[in-house]
Amino acid sequence: MPRVTSATPATPATSARGPARLLLMLGLLRASELTCPPMCLCISDTASCSSSGLAKLPLTLPSFSVTLDLSHNHLTWLASGSFSHMPRLENLRMGHNYLSSLRPGAFHNATGLRHLDLSSNRLKVVEPHYFQGLWRLEELLLYNNKITQVEAGALSGLSSLKKVYFSLNQITHFPFFSIREHSHPFLAMLDLSSNRLARLPWEEVKALPGLLQRGLYLHNNSMICDCSMYSVLWRWDAWGYDALRDFREQHVCSIAGDPRASIRLLQQPRYFNNCTVERASAQPVAVLLSNVHVSEGSRLLLDCPTPLSGADLSFSWLSPRLGPVSAAEPLLHLFANGTLEIREAAVNDSGLYVCTAVDAGQSLNATREVNVTVVPGEADSFSTGYTTLLGCLVTMLLILMYLYLTPCRCGCCKQPKPPFIPIVTYDPGAFPYSASEPPKSQSSKHVAFMEPMTGDAGAEWTPES
Ligand SMILES: *[C@@H]1O[C@H](CO)[C@@H](O)[C@H](O)[C@H]1NC(C)=O
Ligand SMILES: *[C@@H]1O[C@H](CO)[C@@H](O)[C@H](O)[C@H]1NC(C)=O
Ligand SMILES: *[C@@H]1O[C@H](CO)[C@@H](O)[C@H](O)[C@H]1NC(C)=O
Ligand SMILES: *[C@@H]1O[C@H](CO)[C@@H](O)[C@H](O)[C@H]1NC(C)=O
Ligand SMILES: *[C@@H]1O[C@H](CO)[C@@H](O)[C@H](O)[C@H]1NC(C)=O
Ligand SMILES: *[C@@H]1O[C@H](CO)[C@@H](O)[C@H](O)[C@H]1NC(C)=O
Ligand SMILES: *[C@@H]1O[C@H](CO)[C@@H](O)[C@H](O)[C@H]1NC(C)=O
Repeated sequence: MPRVTSATPATPATSARGPARLLLMLGLLRASELTCPPMCLCISDTASCSSSGLAKLPLTLPSFSVTLDLSHNHLTWLASGSFSHMPRLENLRMGHNYLSSLRPGAFHNATGLRHLDLSSNRLKVVEPHYFQGLWRLEELLLYNNKITQVEAGALSGLSSLKKVYFSLNQITHFPFFSIREHSHPFLAMLDLSSNRLARLPWEEVKALPGLLQRGLYLHNNSMICDCSMYSVLWRWDAWGYDALRDFREQHVCSIAGDPRASIRLLQQPRYFNNCTVERASAQPVAVLLSNVHVSEGSRLLLDCPTPLSGADLSFSWLSPRLGPVSAAEPLLHLFANGTLEIREAAVNDSGLYVCTAVDAGQSLNATREVNVTVVPGEADSFSTGYTTLLGCLVTMLLILMYLYLTPCRCGCCKQPKPPFIPIVTYDPGAFPYSASEPPKSQSSKHVAFMEPMTGDAGAEWTPES
């Protein structure tokens, strides 16, 4: 520790022995090309000074280092040009320090930087000069600071950026408009989760490069529920974007801004039944919701009714487990009329199925959702099978009593469990139909599926055509 202090006189002239110290410093500086500060470990191209109690940057950092680790120290500021004598520096780790702002030129001449970790510091505002000139920077870690504001030019000029992490800050507004395809062609991840973004400029968000939309993390913000938010997030979810898939539970929004009335917007889509999910050309696209309950092992047909009517309609389905349904899927079949067949529903087939009908001719498409719940077979096959078995036993008992131990003619005992389709007809109670949808006398092939337009969805939803 004492040696650190002696090696870092920030203002040599203040001391009476200034010139002597300056000479000493220059000597050390020359030696620094080969030597390593005593509190650091220098291995080939890496200098690690983490957890060394540093309050200031050591002056004698090896100039040839590619990686410099200064994390877990007590750094509160960086002088201008702190790293300008390290031309090969690519990875700079300064997480877990006490930096509250960066002075102009802090990274002057550190243009080789590709990975910069400033996470878990105390930065408040990200100013435009912070990362000026770092055009090779690919990864920028700013999570867990105290950032309330990211100024508009803060990321400009960082044309190599691939990933930026702003999670766990207090950001209320983000300059989405400053990120464009031509300015940030490689940006594939922008993490803004766990901030304070209440309302986002969704038109700006929708104008972000497609690559970035796939990697935009917005969960755990105190967002206010509205249709424009839902239509964007719903789409990204339907397209299987990881940010939505991996953090479904944390996509919450509050009704009318009341934090006590918060809903998980991807799991309670009913609240958004009145929303119209818009196409790019602002033409309405119907989102129809319905619920289907079936028991395990049954055959399920999901229709894809659509307000579109064209000669060349094509249909695609997204399965919650398999993603886009391909023709090669053994247990699923997609009919040309859009109906999806699940041959033997398994419990893990439950979830939200999304059908999209595309009219290529008119470039229109419409989407519907079906929430499928597959209940384990035991209960149902027990209750229905039980009735059959009981009847059989009674019959058998009667026969036995009548014939005094004549063996059962087992046509009755061995009768297999009836296939599910007849069961439904006989015993609708075996299937927990949603109460609002009384099972109709459907054509027997469509047993499991509610007629979509006439049920609850139809009552609340009036698709515009
Ligand atoms: C920055 O780099 C330029 C060119 O590489 C060099 O001329 C200049 O002296 C450097 N500045 C500092 C402060 O090292
Ligand atoms: C959500 O964000 C808050 C701060 O906004 C944070 O304290 C909390 O840990 C976050 N939750 C998760 C699960 O990340
Ligand atoms: C689907 O239905 C199940 C059970 O009824 C429910 O728990 C789940 O939240 C529903 N999911 C959606 C997206 O509506
Ligand atoms: C949807 O619209 C219906 C009829 O206009 C209305 O009664 C209902 O409250 C609306 N639901 C929501 C969640 O706004
Ligand atoms: C679609 O075709 C399949 C197989 O021909 C049929 O079972 C199903 O009922 C059809 N669906 C509609 C909505 O016509
Ligand atoms: C889903 O369940 C079926 C049988 O119940 C099983 O064969 C299959 O491996 C399961 N798939 C996954 C992804 O868990
Ligand atoms: C729906 O239509 C829009 C605009 O034509 C298109 O960008 C989008 O890819 C379509 N969606 C699907 C799933 O085909």
